[in-house]
Amino acid sequence: MGKLLKVGIVGCGAIGTSLAKAVFSDFSSSARLTGLYDTEIEKAQKLADKFNNPELVVLSLEDLINKADLVIEATKAQFSFGIAQKSINASRDIMVMSVGGLIQRFEELETLAKEKNARVFIPSGAICGIDGLKAASCSKINKVTLTTRKPPKAFQGVAYVAEKKIDLEHLKEDLVIFEGSAREATKSFPQNINVAATLSMAGIGPENTLVRIIASPNITQNIHEIEVESDAGKITTRTENVIHPDNPKTSYMAVLSAIAVLKQILEPIKIGA
Ligand SMILES: NC(=O)c1ccc[n+]([C@@H]2O[C@H](COP(=O)([O-])OP(=O)(O)OC[C@H]3O[C@@H](n4cnc5c(N)ncnc54)[C@H](O)[C@@H]3O)[C@@H](O)[C@H]2O)c1
Repeated sequence: MGKLLKVGIVGCGAIGTSLAKAVFSDFSSSARLTGLYDTEIEKAQKLADKFNNPELVVLSLEDLINKADLVIEATKAQFSFGIAQKSINASRDIMVMSVGGLIQRFEELETLAKEKNARVFIPSGAICGIDGLKAASCSKINKVTLTTRKPPKAFQGVAYVAEKKIDLEHLKEDLVIFEGSAREATKSFPQNINVAATLSMAGIGPENTLVRIIASPNITQNIHEIEVESDAGKITTRTENVIHPDNPKTSYMAVLSAIAVLKQILEPIKIGA
């Protein structure tokens, strides 16, 4: 058996738990879970119990980083940049799930990763088409548009909706509640932040990526459509996401795309961009 990749997970919620289980069961011949960290320590303890290994729980981010080759961040957007920065400074690779937290300081992270010879992995998450967008980026991209449809209740409590006095309660048909740049979208709709951020970073940046958000009373899933116009041709994708059983804000596909990235890291043959 070759050297096992040591994996530490920061954030033991819906995504962290699913990924820990995947490392433990699906990748047992190539990777080993070496640390679980959560600011709510009982969550890390509960997860470690599932593997009958209380020693997996670590009490600080620094401890987790010391024990890992690859750190997986699955916390919150406001913490992801700091966690990535600390991991990279220790020359560890990192997979970032809270991608929205990177959008303002992406170039800084890129420079640091080059300097420290570390890699930053950003899964496609709840959208499809990032592979084609990356390929098209090698020629010229003229336009990238993301259209997100969610049930009205998904926008409950969003400050932007209240400020604009948008009435979502009595909606009978689709209503476009936002159109603008990905940068503006990520400020006004924090829960849409990951998809828009990933798309921007893979393509033409947050100022030029266009986002349309629609409240739709006739759907139960989160649907993301991407349209790319480039010198290489047109790409259109539509992803109808099943919701993660443990967190209604998270799409199941987001977890699976992180598992697919782990496969890319661990397996010798890498398919797709
Ligand atoms: N990339 C994508 O497409 C995509 C899709 C869905 C969710 N996400 C993002 O992934 C992240 C995790 O999602 P989830 O569904 O697992 O959330 P969750 O709320 O179920 O779990 C988050 C966990 O992180 C812990 N936490 C919070 N701050 C922490 C910190 N500073 N250090 C350590 N632990 C901390 C919390 O206690 C919680 O246990 C979120 O930021 C979410 O927006 C990304």
